[in-house]
Amino acid sequence: MGSHFIKYILVKYPGYKVINFDKLTYAGNLENLREVENNPQYKFVQGDICDREAVNKVVEENKIDAIVNYAAESHVDRSIMDPDVFLRTEILGSFNLLEATKNFNLKKMVQVSTDEVYGSIEEGSFTEDSSFSPNSPYAAAKAGGDHLCRAYFVTYKTPIVVSHSCNFYGTNQFPEKLIPFFITNLIEGKKVPLYGDGKNVREWIHTSDHCRAIDVLLHQAEAGNVYNIGTGKELKNIEITKLILSEMEMGEEMIEPVKDRPGHDRRYSIDCSKLENDFGWKAEKDFETGLKETIAWYKNNPDWWQPLKNGEHAEYFKKQYLERK
Ligand code: TYD
Repeated sequence: MGSHFIKYILVKYPGYKVINFDKLTYAGNLENLREVENNPQYKFVQGDICDREAVNKVVEENKIDAIVNYAAESHVDRSIMDPDVFLRTEILGSFNLLEATKNFNLKKMVQVSTDEVYGSIEEGSFTEDSSFSPNSPYAAAKAGGDHLCRAYFVTYKTPIVVSHSCNFYGTNQFPEKLIPFFITNLIEGKKVPLYGDGKNVREWIHTSDHCRAIDVLLHQAEAGNVYNIGTGKELKNIEITKLILSEMEMGEEMIEPVKDRPGHDRRYSIDCSKLENDFGWKAEKDFETGLKETIAWYKNNPDWWQPLKNGEHAEYFKKQYLERK
């Protein structure tokens, strides 16, 4: 997601200098930024937000005036297998960025977070005033980082804006998340493992709409505010699976029902009227169109995802599959 935002900002604000401070974990990929690597307004610095000195150095040396925190371990299934790194990145990493924002008097920090911090909701939608009730180690770690953001604003007036977004989809997404995982499995002629009864509901936003929302928060939102970023486009996993199958002209025999994810949240839903009322922001990308484009991209870019899925990460996919058998 961060690479989409960097490209978006460089086009929209050609006078800005963008520093991409990235640890390049398994999900980070400089290929995604190949087209801007020679742009003089763009610089890549390899580093970890958990390393306080490295964060301070990059902020000071580059006279940074705003931080957008896209750095995260973001895959729920991995957080169930191995929560440790999630806690460090989401909590200690956010803490280091908040410290830098405070100590170097930055103008703004935008925390990119998730609707998963609110937990599951059977009916209705969470607003920015809803309390946190995270259910996975991933969501709990994100909630920890978000609580620190709140505390820094209340205690030190650190200029922080927190965003809670629904599920992203689009191009260049690591093929472990539902949409790219299912698309790439089907391209490879493999079945798609649908957890539980397939009726869990997620709300979906295209990467382009998410970039527009973060742009608005970075430039217009007042410090101390929290905003939900969503589309109202709620779908059961089985519905998405059928849409993907139909677009790829494949039948439902490709669905493999598997054991449910432990602690699997039934439904996420967020009320985004604050973002619309304050700034007139609305999602623009129609889900069916975005999904078609995403499928076409994965079909046209096997060189991008095949090494990720079948190379050094093959072990993860195998382990994950065996867990669900
Ligand atoms: P995911 O993309 O992992 O996002 P999140 O857990 O953050 O919502 O999963 C989206 C939904 O799809 C979630 O309800 C779990 C489900 N899912 C499957 O049914 N099968 C899979 O192989 C994966 C990865 C997810």
